[in-house]
Amino acid sequence: MCGIAGYLGFRKAYPIVINGLQRLEYRGYDSAGVVLVDGNEMSLYKTKGKVSDLKKIMKQNNVEGNLALGHTRWATHGVPNDENSHPHLSNSGNLVIVHNGIIENYDTIKKELITRGYTFKSDTDTEVLINLIEEVKIKNNCKLGYAVQMALTSVVGAYAIAVFDISKPNEIIVAKLGSPIAIGIGENNSEFFVASDASPFIEYTRNAIYLEDEEMAIIKLGEEIRIRKIQDNAEVVPEIQQLKLNLEQIEKGGYDHFMLKEIHEQPQSIVDAYRGRLLASTGMIKMGSVDNNISRFLNANRIVIVACGTSWHAGLVAEYLFEDLARIPVEVEYASEFRYRNPIINKDDIVIAISQSGETADTLAAVKLAKSKGAFVFGVCNVVGSSIARETDTGAYTHAGPEIGVASTKAFTTQITVLALIALKLGNLKGELSNSMYNHYIQEMSLIPAKVEEVLKMDKEIEKIAAIYKDAPNCLYLGRGFNFPVALEGALKLKEISYIHAEGYPAAEMKHGPIALIDEHMPVIVIATKKGHYDKVVSNIQEIKARNGKIIAIVTKGDTIVREIADHVIEIPETEEAFTPLLSTIPLQLLSYYIAVMRGCNVDQPRNLAKSVTVE
Ligand code: M6R
Repeated sequence: MCGIAGYLGFRKAYPIVINGLQRLEYRGYDSAGVVLVDGNEMSLYKTKGKVSDLKKIMKQNNVEGNLALGHTRWATHGVPNDENSHPHLSNSGNLVIVHNGIIENYDTIKKELITRGYTFKSDTDTEVLINLIEEVKIKNNCKLGYAVQMALTSVVGAYAIAVFDISKPNEIIVAKLGSPIAIGIGENNSEFFVASDASPFIEYTRNAIYLEDEEMAIIKLGEEIRIRKIQDNAEVVPEIQQLKLNLEQIEKGGYDHFMLKEIHEQPQSIVDAYRGRLLASTGMIKMGSVDNNISRFLNANRIVIVACGTSWHAGLVAEYLFEDLARIPVEVEYASEFRYRNPIINKDDIVIAISQSGETADTLAAVKLAKSKGAFVFGVCNVVGSSIARETDTGAYTHAGPEIGVASTKAFTTQITVLALIALKLGNLKGELSNSMYNHYIQEMSLIPAKVEEVLKMDKEIEKIAAIYKDAPNCLYLGRGFNFPVALEGALKLKEISYIHAEGYPAAEMKHGPIALIDEHMPVIVIATKKGHYDKVVSNIQEIKARNGKIIAIVTKGDTIVREIADHVIEIPETEEAFTPLLSTIPLQLLSYYIAVMRGCNVDQPRNLAKSVTVE
C-alpha cells in the first residue's frame, strides 16, 4: 500500500501535493518523494523517511510549478531508501511515474529490458514499468496514453499509477487495477487532482471520479477527462460523484476507526499475502525464500517459532499447520522467554520469527540469539526493510499493508496465510500430502477471501451481540485444535481494546479449573466448527449451559445442534479445518471492536499500548 497525490492546474502544486501526502501517510510512510514541473524545468526530490523528512529537504529547494506528483511509500520491492522511493524516471529522464501496487512479473520484464540496454537505479518493480512504457512509446512512436495502455497489457499484478511526460506538462495518464485512484476535477477542467483517496483535494473540489479496475484516464488541462478500458480500448462514460465525506472519514476509508477498516481489508490483504505465491491454476505454491532453501526446510529436525502477542498466536496456528500437514515438529516460544533461557538450538533447526512491525525488541533479540547459535532464521514480517526482516537470513513478507490500529487484525490472518503456504508446500514435498490433497488445499485457500467477505457481512448481527455483553466484567474464550490459538487471540483482542478481563483456553481445560467461574453472568465465546473435535466441544458447551453460562458460539454454516443450546450463534462458511482460523477469528475481532466502541474506549490507540514494542 502506498499513497499517491498529484496536481495539474493553475495553483502552486507543491503545497497541495505535500499536504495531500501527509493525509495519505496512513497508507505507508517509509519513504516519500515529489516531482515538480515549472515551465520546462523538472525537479525531483525523494528520501527515506516520512513526508516530514521530505518537507525538510524541500525547505532549501525550488517548490515552484503547477504540475506535481508525490508519493508516500509502503515498500514491497526493495528496502526503503532514497533510490527506491518514488517518483521514478525512465532511462531517458522524460517519463515520470508514481505507483501503488505490485507488478508480479517485473523480474521477467526487467531481464528483457536489460538485454535491450535499459539500466536500473532502484530495486523496484515501478522503475521497470516506467521503462517498459518508454520502450513501447519509442518503438511505436505513439502518444503516452497508448504507450501506458500497451505496457499495462503485459504486466501481471496490481496497480494505481500516474504518469506524465515532462515535454507535455499539461497531461497526466492514470490507470487502475486492484489499487484505488481518485481524480478530482476543478471548475471547467481548469485543474485536476490525482490521489489514492479524495483526502488531498477535499477542500478544492467535491467533484471526483473513482476509476474502476482495468480503466485508464487521460487527463488534459482544459479538456474533458477521457476514460477507456485498458484491455479492449472501450470508451467509458466518466461518472462524476459528489463527495459527501469529511477529511477524517476519507482517510479511514469511510470507517469510524482504522481497526474496523483493517478488519474489512482482510479479504484483500489475504489475497495480497498469497498473490504470486499461490498459483491455483497450476496447483503450485511458489515462494522464493523457501524454494531457495528447500533442502534445509525438508531436512529440518524441528521448527522453533519465536514471536510476541498476536504474532505468537499466529505461531501457535502454524504449529498445528506444520505438524499436521508437513509432520515437522514445532515449538512455539514467547520471544521474551526464549531470549533469556539459554535455549537448545541445533544446526538442523529452523527458527521462524513472526512480527508485524518487524521491530519488536524481544523478537529481534530472539533472532539475534538464534543466529548466534548457528540457526537458520526465517522471518515472517509485514514491514518491508524492518529490523527483523533485515536481521533474519531470509523470509517472506505478509504484504498486509500498513496496520495503523494498535490491535493486530489483518496482520494475524496474513501471517497465517503465509505460514499455511509454507506448511502446504513442505507437506507435499515431504510426501505427507498427496498431490490431490495439496491441490485441494490450494483451491480451498483461493476461496478464503470470498469466505472472509461472507463473515464480514455479519457485522450488524455481531454488533447486536456486543450490545448485550458490553458491560460484562469477564469473558471466556474456548476453542480446540486449530481454533485454540484463535480463542487466545479473541481474548487478547477483547482485553486490549475494551479493558474487559478475558481468558482463552483449550475447551477441554474448562473442567480443570475455569469452570468454577461459570455463572449466569459469564459470557463464554466458543469456537465449535464442524470438523474440529465438534462432539467434544458440544459437550463442553452443555457443561457451561448446565451452569447457566451464556454461550456465543462460532459454528459452521448450517449447524443445527449448537444452535439449539447456545444463546447466540455466528455462522462461518465451511472450509478445511486447517484454514478455519482465517474465518473464525473475524467475528471475534468484530465483537471486541463493537464492545470497545460501546464502552467508549479509544479503539485505535488503547491505553498503555504502542504499535511497535521496541522496548523490553
Ligand atoms: O509487531 P509484532 O507483530 O512483533 O507485535 C507483537 C505484539 O506486540 C502485537 O501483536 C500485540 O500483541 C498487538 N497489540 C496485539 O493486537
